[in-house]
Amino acid sequence: MMLTLAQAGEGTFWFPAQAAENAAKVDDLFYFVLYVSVFFFLLIMTILSIFVIRYRRREGVEPEKSPSHNTVLEIVWSVIPTALVVYMFYTGFTGYLEKRTPPTGAYEIGVTAQKWSWNFTYPNGHTTNVLHVPVGVETQMVMTSEDVIHSFFVPAFREKMDVLPGRYTKAWFTPTLVGTYDLFCAEYCGTAHSEMITKVVVHPQDGPDSFENWLREDSDFLTKLSPVEGGKKVYQLRGCGQCHSLDGTSGNGPSFKGAWGTERTLADGPKVVFDENYVRESILMPKAKVLAGYEPVMPTFQGRIKDEEITALIAFLKSLQQ
Ligand code: CUA
Repeated sequence: MMLTLAQAGEGTFWFPAQAAENAAKVDDLFYFVLYVSVFFFLLIMTILSIFVIRYRRREGVEPEKSPSHNTVLEIVWSVIPTALVVYMFYTGFTGYLEKRTPPTGAYEIGVTAQKWSWNFTYPNGHTTNVLHVPVGVETQMVMTSEDVIHSFFVPAFREKMDVLPGRYTKAWFTPTLVGTYDLFCAEYCGTAHSEMITKVVVHPQDGPDSFENWLREDSDFLTKLSPVEGGKKVYQLRGCGQCHSLDGTSGNGPSFKGAWGTERTLADGPKVVFDENYVRESILMPKAKVLAGYEPVMPTFQGRIKDEEITALIAFLKSLQQ
């Protein structure tokens, strides 16, 4: 059984591509533990099988008295396994300490998890659903959750960290390979947990695709797009579509199709018109006026969304009447 070690850029049977600096260390320790375990499993099972056959009970054969002990054998089978597990512990523990201590001056990206989407906020305040990072730069995630426990998991970076409500956790990595990789939620967080999937895009240092170029271009989308297109992008970026469909199907929240201008009944009886002020209030204070038939599960966007974004979103919702 010969398994090739993961090379940068390509995955193996066990692992995806190694796209961050610590990935090789993680994989090496995994293979070490795996091969040691396989070796001892085969060794012990082989000896056990031989002994079971060789020393089985037979008619007319009396058991021999066993020798009390064998010093050399006992030292060998104590010292070698001890050295192996000490090596595993030492490598694992020092690796863990390194991973739990973000370097000072690392590029910082805010991560907000919510049922069931990811939000990444860059130092200039721009927010995306797909994580964008520069290659070769120590990058730190400062993460929190709007609701339940989620878990930030990028297999290609060998990075996984829980994301908790009411608390900040950190993860850091140095991407080494330009490309697009999977980003999962690795903690069961409710109905659409398995759909809480996005991507990490590792940008090259220079050129038109560089991280800086991307950030500048992408941050500017509201001034470049029409209000309706900008609003559609806000709808996608902010994860509205997780609950508010555009095709009329009802999710955790009402569909936006044809919703604009209609009169709706609230959970406690009164009516409300689905207009600018209702939309704005519902984004900032989602629990203030919950429509009948829905649970008050929407997280607030107070302090996370700009007025321009709400305005664009309203233009987009209006456009859905036709
Ligand atoms: Cu979020 Cu599972």
